[in-house]
Amino acid sequence: MLIDTDTQGQSAYMLGVKPVGGLAELLTKELSLDEALFKARENLWILAGGKSLAGVKRLINRKDFGGELTLSESLSEIDADYDYVVVDTSPGWDPLTVNVLFYVRELLLPVSLEVMSLQALGSFFKSVASIKKYRSELKIKYIVPNFMDLRVRKKSETILEKLEALYKDTVCAPIRYNNVLSQAPMYGKTIFEYAPGAKGALDYKELVRKITGQQDLFQ
Ligand SMILES: Nc1ncnc2c1ncn2[C@@H]1O[C@H](COP(=O)(O)OP(=O)(O)OP(=O)(O)O)[C@@H](O)[C@H]1O
Ligand SMILES: [Mg+2]
Repeated sequence: MLIDTDTQGQSAYMLGVKPVGGLAELLTKELSLDEALFKARENLWILAGGKSLAGVKRLINRKDFGGELTLSESLSEIDADYDYVVVDTSPGWDPLTVNVLFYVRELLLPVSLEVMSLQALGSFFKSVASIKKYRSELKIKYIVPNFMDLRVRKKSETILEKLEALYKDTVCAPIRYNNVLSQAPMYGKTIFEYAPGAKGALDYKELVRKITGQQDLFQ
């Protein structure tokens, strides 16, 4: 199950589907779970994001207490039915991000090797530490270096080396810069549907293997 907590609602767009509602309608109880969940592919369900999540943030803020558990309470009955629940967050820090950190157990942080984002990563680690006081099981499990550019090898490698020195085994094999990764969403296709042999697909396959520990997912 894929849950999109971003007001941009890109997850549904990238999969080429148009659910009538999604996470916002589930959290406000306008839709039941069956109505809010959309089957995007065989074995892939999505709770879509979108503009209506802005209202949900206000709803969370108005609660006298327990606002940070809004997401967990809505999903607690069903998440055991899925092998993996993947939550996509918005950039930045808002009431929904805090809700996600009170819901998930493992964090995967994509880091661009194009820009010096180590500082942003450091401050995110501090924010996570402040939540960990209440949720000791929360763990930054994977850091995924992205946009590895072999043409500007030196710059990419310097940032990658710094990441590895700081975060050691948490750092996964980098995802190379690959144009087809940005084309696939325009066709509503995943990279595995659009260009399964491309470098970008191979790099993401490797990441999926690392996370799931399964070799045969793509056969
Ligand atoms: N390795 C890559 N090579 C080329 N293009 C990529 C690569 N990784 C991601 N992209 C493209 O870069 C764009 C931004 O990626 P993505 O939407 O995953 O970023 P994001 O961090 O979720 O952005 P936001 O913070 O706005 O939610 C997308 O068009 C995506 O297809
Ligand atoms: Mg995003």
